[in-house]
Amino acid sequence: MIGCSKAERMKTVVCKTDPKRPSAKAIGVAAEAILRGRLVVFPTETVYGIGANAFDDKACREVYRVKGRASDNPLIVHVYSVEDALKLGRFNREHAKTLGRIWPGPLTVIVKGRGRLPETVTAGLDSVAIRCPRGNVIRSIMKTAGVPIAAPSANISTKPSSTKGEHAIGYFIGKVSVIIDGGEADYGIESTILDLRSFRILRPGAFTPEQIERAFGRKPILGRIARGTAGAKRAISPGTKYRHYAPLTPLFVYTGDRKAVRSMIRPFGKSAAFIGSDESCSFLKGTGVRPISLGPAKSLRIRVHRLFDKLIELDSLGVDFAVIEQFPEHGLGYSAMNRLRKASDHKSFSNLEELKKLLENK
Ligand code: TXA
Ligand code: MG
Repeated sequence: MIGCSKAERMKTVVCKTDPKRPSAKAIGVAAEAILRGRLVVFPTETVYGIGANAFDDKACREVYRVKGRASDNPLIVHVYSVEDALKLGRFNREHAKTLGRIWPGPLTVIVKGRGRLPETVTAGLDSVAIRCPRGNVIRSIMKTAGVPIAAPSANISTKPSSTKGEHAIGYFIGKVSVIIDGGEADYGIESTILDLRSFRILRPGAFTPEQIERAFGRKPILGRIARGTAGAKRAISPGTKYRHYAPLTPLFVYTGDRKAVRSMIRPFGKSAAFIGSDESCSFLKGTGVRPISLGPAKSLRIRVHRLFDKLIELDSLGVDFAVIEQFPEHGLGYSAMNRLRKASDHKSFSNLEELKKLLENK
């Protein structure tokens, strides 16, 4: 045990449960831990979260410490209902009405705060990110504990988010009090973050721009921050300044034609993996590049759902580099491309020459 901090030696209770009908025992254990100021990892419909009682400053500080998160990057506050959201933030009547129709669901909104949360949660901003999640595990924990839960995604900072219990266990066993293993999250990508003050998407996610437009009757602003091409010098959403979702394996995005993958991707004497659709993977047979399939080209939802899982798996393969096929930039594909730009540190190519250059500069 030499070199282990107290937190690293913490005994973690792991409860496996059906996420649709969570066991009363698992929920009881988690809710009690939350009320005692401990950290709990749980599934939501988007990804896993690592949460604490949002009113407990000390517990929220622990979330930052355990996750390795910068203190100027605020947490999302999860609430049980729209009424609970109204107690924490200022909403205009129309927005509250619309949220009443679409919540619970994978949309987080930024509004002006009411100053009822510790500064640790909001990182000292006058705004707050609020989300009413649909996942039954987190909903039942909040209902039983009777408090909102501040929770970022359950990953060590910079790493891909957990979409399965085993990912969350890998990151946090021995570091939190309770992990609820509810199998695979429904979406496998985080919630969409919409700033209701400017009607700008700060992070595209599981709730598509098209769904926002239908629900609010207004097109959201989609700028460089949402695309993932801006470094966000001024921290509109503080999280946009930090490297994210990055596997240890160097990753490059292939932006060329799918049918040309066979002639555009070579291992160049190294070991390489390719992450893409079933169809694109089949084009690479016999090239020495290891295929990692995300699912059928026609199902964007399945491919996006598996994205983080495959990025996490990638690091266990020990290849020198990996190439990932781009997603179409609409619907969930738009959100996936935002993650890929960051995971690849904005490195992309469309032909062999460009790939060779990326490998030489590595
Ligand atoms: O699906 C999700 O949203 C998951 C699950 C657990 O709910 N949570 C999640 O949290 O992805 P996290 O911490 O990984 O991402 C939250 C993002 C961060 O980029 C943070 O900067 C931004 O929300 N954020 C939080 N409060 C904000 C605020 N007041 N203004 C602007 N951005 C804010
Ligand atoms: Mg995150």
